[in-house]
Order: sequence, then C-alpha cells, then structure tokens
Amino acid sequence: MRILITGGAGFIGSHLAESCLEKGDEVYIIDDLSTGDIKNVRFLQDNPNYRDRLFIHINTILNHDLMLELTGICDQVYHLAAAVGVQTILEKPLESIITNIQGTEKVLEMCNKFKKRVLIASTSEVYGKHTHAPLVETDNIIYGPSSKFRWSYAASKLMDEFTALAYHRKNGLEVIITRLFNTVGPRQTGAYGMVIPRFVAQALRNEPITVYGDGSQTRTFTYVKDVVDALTKLMASNASIGEVFNIGGVEEISILDLANKIIAMTASTSRIQLIPYDEAFGKDFEDMQRRVPSTEKLAQVIGSAPDKSLDFILNQVVDFIKNQ
Ligand SMILES: NC(=O)c1ccc[n+]([C@@H]2O[C@H](COP(=O)([O-])OP(=O)(O)OC[C@H]3O[C@@H](n4cnc5c(N)ncnc54)[C@H](O)[C@@H]3O)[C@@H](O)[C@H]2O)c1
Repeated sequence: MRILITGGAGFIGSHLAESCLEKGDEVYIIDDLSTGDIKNVRFLQDNPNYRDRLFIHINTILNHDLMLELTGICDQVYHLAAAVGVQTILEKPLESIITNIQGTEKVLEMCNKFKKRVLIASTSEVYGKHTHAPLVETDNIIYGPSSKFRWSYAASKLMDEFTALAYHRKNGLEVIITRLFNTVGPRQTGAYGMVIPRFVAQALRNEPITVYGDGSQTRTFTYVKDVVDALTKLMASNASIGEVFNIGGVEEISILDLANKIIAMTASTSRIQLIPYDEAFGKDFEDMQRRVPSTEKLAQVIGSAPDKSLDFILNQVVDFIKNQ
C-alpha cells in the first residue's frame, strides 16, 4: 500500500510513518517543518529496511502541483498537517487559519479528484467550553467569542470536519474524522505549549514548573502509539467512513496534580509556579476546564480503545527527554 502522510515529520505523523513502514507500506511524507522536525524521521531514512520505501517532501500542503502528484501516487491519505498548539495559534493567527482551512480543503480536493480514502486529524478542542464528561461525538459545541483567538483553532478544525463530511455526502468521498485528545509520547516537543514535555523538561532541570491558571483544569492523556493503532484500524475499516470518532485516554487528572506527579516521578526539586492566563497568553485568553472523551464509538468499530496508564506514558516521556 502507498500511504501519504501530511505532517509526517511531526510528532504523531512520524510515529504513524514508522508504523506504516513496519507493516511494509511505501510512505510519502509532505511537511513544511513549521512545527515538525526532520530529526523525527531521519532515523527512518537511515534504516536500510525502510530507506527505499520512504519519500520525504519538505513542502507545504498548499502546493497544488505537488499535492496533485502525491495524492495521485498514493492509495490512502492521512491528513495530519496543521497549525498546532495554543502558542502557535495565538502568535500566528492568520497563517494558522490558512493552513488549517485552505490546507485541508486542498487535501480533500485532491482526494476527491483521485477518489482516495482520507483520514482527517481533528481535535478535542472542537467541543469548546463543555465541563461535562465524557464528551460524546454528537454533543453540542460551545465556543467563546471571535475576539478570543484561542477558539479559532477549534473553529478551523470544525470547519475541516464540515468540509470533509460535505465531500462525503455530495461526492461519496471516503472520509474518516478523528478527534484526538491530548496525545503524548517520545518526540513531542514542549516548544509550542504542549504540557507534559514542558513539565518534564522543567522538572529534570529542577526549574519552576509553570502551571497556567490555578491548575484546576483537567485533561486526559493518550499514548501516541495507541493513537497510531486507532488511526490505522479506522483507516482499514469500512464502518468508519463518513463518521466522527473520539480518540483519547480516560484517566482524568488536574494540571496541578500532573505537575506534582512529575516532580515526584523525577525526584525533582522544582517548585510549582502558578502563572495567570493573561500573563501567559494575553488578556483575551480562555481555557477549557475539562476534556474527557467517550471512546465507546471507537471501541465498537475497531474493537479497542487507548488504554495506556498515565504512569506508563510519563515514564516514556521522561526516558526520552533524559536521553535527548
Ligand atoms: N498532539 C496532540 O495532542 C493533538 C491533539 C489534537 C489534535 N492533534 C492533531 O494531530 C495532528 C498532528 O499533530 P502533532 O501533535 O503531531 O503536531 P506536530 O506539530 O508535531 O505535527 C504537525 C505537522 O504538520 C506540519 N505542517 C504544518 N503546516 C503545514 C503545511 N502548511 N504544509 C505541510 N506541513 C505542515 C508541521 O511541520 C508538523 O510537522 C494535527 O492535525 C493536530 O491538530 C494533535
């Protein structure tokens, strides 16, 4: 099978590429390295078993001619390229909206032209400001006003979902939509605001652990290889076509408790420093208080759901950052 992965030099994309290569697929990556890193896939290029089956294009998904060529060659497309991370969205709001909306529209246009099955990586952020749990795919969606730019990420990803579903309904395009909850593991960078690699790096350096807000906001965390497993199983299933799926872990923890857990695990002398949201992100910032998925629908279709414990995930990240 020939697989195109947009954003394949990113954190999740590189794990997906590795998994596809292990299965014997030919893998094509397009990535502009805006938040990705060539180091994430260089070891795959250096592997003699994979070298002849891995093709990396450092370019943007907005490049019409290249996308035409790559989509034409491949059998299936995983669309992971996006402007990612709260910091990226707030610092580059316009570029982020263009990448997420025009970029996805380009991917879908090409997949429709060649009738290639496509999986879209959306996000738990699309649920917005809910505080109930668990979040179900059919839940209503609540956002803050457009003056609060944080919501532009959620709104752009929601628009991607609508566009994909419209191609499915109008043209029969085989689309699968996945709402990823906080995904964690080796190769994730803390540089764009991702909480676990940031906290672990601070703890290992015995620096203050910077918790935004009062730390009472809760999250669940999913191990990246569990996410990749779910993505590939959904791609292989006809029952997933035209459907939306949560992919996430179910162990809920407050960010303050997470910081304390990481301090204990790493035997760090770090203290916790609370930073008000407006100091960290400017006055127009709003956070999501709670985000816990229902993975019932996912389990019904693929027969399993992410199940790695938070302790397991944290140990993987600590080992990775220590060895960097
Ligand atoms: N990591 C998470 O917790 C999480 C949660 C929800 C959703 N997601 C989604 O999963 C996908 C992958 O995220 P990730 O965590 O691996 O982040 P990442 O930043 O590591 O990966 C995104 C990749 O897309 C690339 N990219 C960005 N704009 C591009 C463009 N115009 N052309 C080509 N490449 C471009 C980046 O360089 C990067 O390699 C994203 O769509 C993201 O929205 C991730």
